[in-house]
Amino acid sequence: MLFGATGDLSRRMLLPSLYHLWRETRLPPGTRLIGAARSQLDVAAFRAQVSEALEAGAAAQYREPAAIAEFAGQFDYVHVDAGDPATIAALAAIVGDSACLHYFATAPGLYGPLAAALKDAGLTGDGSRVIVEKPIGHDLASSIAINDALADAFAEEQIFRVDHYLGKETVQNLIALRFGNALFEPLWRSEGISFVELTVAETVGLESRAGYYDGSGALRDMVQNHMLQLLALVAMEPPASLDAAAVRNEKIKVLRSLRPLTAQTVGACAVAGQYGPGVSEGGAVRGYAEELGKPSGTETFAAIRADIDNWRWAGVPFYLRTGKRMPQRYTEIVVHFRAVPYSIFARDGGLLSPNKLIIRLQPEENVRLTLMAKEPGLERDGARLRELGLDLSLSEAFKDVRRRIAYERLLLDAIDGDQTLFVRRDEIEAAWTWIDSIHAGWLAVGAAPKPYAAGSWGPPSSIALTERFGHSWHE
Ligand code: BG6
Repeated sequence: MLFGATGDLSRRMLLPSLYHLWRETRLPPGTRLIGAARSQLDVAAFRAQVSEALEAGAAAQYREPAAIAEFAGQFDYVHVDAGDPATIAALAAIVGDSACLHYFATAPGLYGPLAAALKDAGLTGDGSRVIVEKPIGHDLASSIAINDALADAFAEEQIFRVDHYLGKETVQNLIALRFGNALFEPLWRSEGISFVELTVAETVGLESRAGYYDGSGALRDMVQNHMLQLLALVAMEPPASLDAAAVRNEKIKVLRSLRPLTAQTVGACAVAGQYGPGVSEGGAVRGYAEELGKPSGTETFAAIRADIDNWRWAGVPFYLRTGKRMPQRYTEIVVHFRAVPYSIFARDGGLLSPNKLIIRLQPEENVRLTLMAKEPGLERDGARLRELGLDLSLSEAFKDVRRRIAYERLLLDAIDGDQTLFVRRDEIEAAWTWIDSIHAGWLAVGAAPKPYAAGSWGPPSSIALTERFGHSWHE
């Protein structure tokens, strides 16, 4: 049951993902597909919308008109208004006593009313599940209100909170890299690592999301969810298995160990920026305020030093950086290992760069380990060393495998009832607690976002943020 079936998320991600699963016969036999939305459409008009979405968004090898028509033809459509019990009753009549997977691809303000209406209609029983999207609130208090409303209708085991980054193949690969290789674990701690960087850079600007984005900003839009999930996967203890409880129990410990920022520390540890006019992807672009049509105090860039107060990570900064209108689009994790304890090359002027593990999650997928090697030659005045990379290109190694939309994995897991890649309530709340501490700090010191030119790496204070602690962003 897809609520918000005529919306953007459904069109761009959910319908193509469902279609791919159906095309590969991965949907359980007998699965019924029902679209629900506020629009008064007849079923034929909705099916036409489904076909249109797939003609534009399905994987190239699956764009056969006959298959698309067959898939679209399986959809029912119901006009639903959470405040109108008659429309929910119409839905219940179609569903009968089947167990339902409800996907709320709607504004979060509707999660509570929808959940309550479904409960009243008897559609939230044991076999039923609900999938919800971010934003789950805009601070701790509002996230508790949303989670409480969901909990009134569904048990936690029935609630699947999506963070689409967890559906990305390369993000799951982080778990494989850390726990499938003996090489890293002995060094994966403060004794072996001096600092870690996480960058999620985007070239896009406001796009057509002014209403949502201006009330949110980079910290709420990207850091609270995607970046803290990445951080938790990088920093967590080895879980006992890939079981949902085992993995999420480890992630929550990391999130709860994040040191809150305060009015005293926020100035040194968190930078907000907002892009002005500049150049992006070869063309002149307007600044955020011009795109928005009014001045705004919303940050489109954030850089933060996060500290994880536990034994493994004491004293190791995790620098998080995300922004719109950056020079390039990529998501990258850089693990900086400590320098050798003593350099035998230093006397003759040989320089050593500490090893780095650079994990590129998108757009290309590769892992690079930098190592020092001797340059060939007969030099008599000490070895000349050069930093070289040991490269593992996942895009190349798996080039024959279709790259799936993150939602394909997530939908299939939700159908199977596997919550490993979904975010538990306590994780959301721990993440908000930390994010709220940054907002409270900014508010207390009256910090406003610093301007940066579109197409640059954020305001100069972002460079100063890491340099202050003796580190530099990897570019
Ligand atoms: C979304 C944010 O959650 O993630 C967007 O709301 C952002 O602002 C998007 O552009 C980035 O996702 P991806 O998969 O393109 O890295």
